Amino acid sequence: MKNKLIVALDVPELAKAQELVNTLGETVNYYKVGLELFLNTRGEVLDFLKAKDKKVFLDLKFHDIPNTITQAAKWAAGLGVDMFNVHASGGEVMLATTMETVKNSAVNNGYTPPLVIGVTVLTSFDEVSFNKVGFKYSIDETVLHWSQLCQKAGLDGVVCSPREAANIKSVCGNEFITVCPGVRPCWTELQDQKRITTPGEAIKMGADYLVVGRPITKNSNPCQAALRIIKEMEGEE
Ligand code: C5P
Repeated sequence: MKNKLIVALDVPELAKAQELVNTLGETVNYYKVGLELFLNTRGEVLDFLKAKDKKVFLDLKFHDIPNTITQAAKWAAGLGVDMFNVHASGGEVMLATTMETVKNSAVNNGYTPPLVIGVTVLTSFDEVSFNKVGFKYSIDETVLHWSQLCQKAGLDGVVCSPREAANIKSVCGNEFITVCPGVRPCWTELQDQKRITTPGEAIKMGADYLVVGRPITKNSNPCQAALRIIKEMEGEE
């Protein structure tokens, strides 16, 4: 189960990230690097993680016109990350050309292409806040529609709430990967997350990867928190 846990390294500095990764040791194999840490370390954190033999999900959530994202995706893939993401709402052309470029670039340069994952509706949205942005359909309908769009464009999977994973799997098939933030064990606070489940529920609902940040990184004993979450994922608590 531990290979399904991705810890969100949402800390501002390289030293903090190093401290956390060293503390978590062999308990955690997969890390998510987001905007704050990537920008503040000018990408250096990726070298550190690779030197430690950790897997990396680069969470920069690309969203722009097809040409811009296609070029950015080529560089992201070339960084040697295992997974990165683009916004599903960037549309079919942006998604499809990104996939094509990533695959060609991997073949031409002799590396394994990273998984490319489409961001659906952020887990910090509930129905009311989503509606306020001006979206006409419900979150469930939108997530499913964008998942199908991503699948048609050849993406490997989507970022979604664990609550949506089962539905997506039933429509897009079991091979279509669901990467799920919005995970909260019952012993932690919700913070800004809205569409959440516990780690155990997330696994039962078909989540392939659980992205967990603050319940681990802000815990006074991050390693114990990670182990407890892995146990819950295994259905042991
Ligand atoms: O601290 P927490 O467990 O809420 O962290 C969740 C992580 O997943 C954050 O880094 C956040 O940027 C990311 N994320 C998310 N919801 C999405 C996509 C990414 O919470 N839909």
